[in-house]
Amino acid sequence: MTPTVHRSPNPAAVAQDFAQFFAQLVRRKSDFTVALSGGSTPKLLFQLWAAAYRERIDWSEIHFFWGDERCVPPNDPESNFGVTDDLLLQHLNLSPDNIHRIHGEADPAEEVERYADELAVNVREVNGLPQFDLVLLGMGSDGHTASIFPHQMELWDSPEPTVIATHPDSGQKRISLSGGVINNAANVAFLVTGDAKREKIAGIFANNKESQAWPASKVHPTNGQLHWFVDEAAMPA
Ligand code: 6PG
Repeated sequence: MTPTVHRSPNPAAVAQDFAQFFAQLVRRKSDFTVALSGGSTPKLLFQLWAAAYRERIDWSEIHFFWGDERCVPPNDPESNFGVTDDLLLQHLNLSPDNIHRIHGEADPAEEVERYADELAVNVREVNGLPQFDLVLLGMGSDGHTASIFPHQMELWDSPEPTVIATHPDSGQKRISLSGGVINNAANVAFLVTGDAKREKIAGIFANNKESQAWPASKVHPTNGQLHWFVDEAAMPA
């Protein structure tokens, strides 16, 4: 399936364009399962959803998961759930049943199993793996995605749905979806902005040899759609 590239002038426009895409996507399905990305890029989207989409989407039909989480408590500034809760979830009056966070405060070896069980119970299974309706991804300037980093490429091909990863610089433990679950999704959408990402996007779009070492280059949904939402700064010249 050829990826669809959505070019937008700037990060705010990327958030707006993706929000319109998402609003169309969720109209077609009840009990929609989405795995959110972390980091800073999606913050504009969360703020936009909270400010302008509270009434435009039936959020009670959306089940929120995360593609990865840092192994820190939810009130830690590093927590992907904590950021999403502050910027979005607290504004949606959602039932707790719709929120399936990764317990960053737990022992990673226990949480990697517990989260896999939570996916098995709450996400439909297709081809023996959880199939999300949508997986949202960011990309680091090193080409990592979710929390699969270039120094741990073997985690991408794990037969398990969830893996324990390690940040290459800080050594911080993370829980992440494996590549099999990401590529099993019905839809995958990258949100990538800023010139720091341009070199990696150029390599991935060109499918060059160097890009094979970057986890983000391994995102090829088996039967799903792949979308890139990119601003001008991150787009290859
Ligand atoms: C995380 C993310 C990670 C992120 C990239 C890009 O937990 O950090 O899931 O994969 O999407 O690192 O991060 P920025 O959006 O901050 O550039």
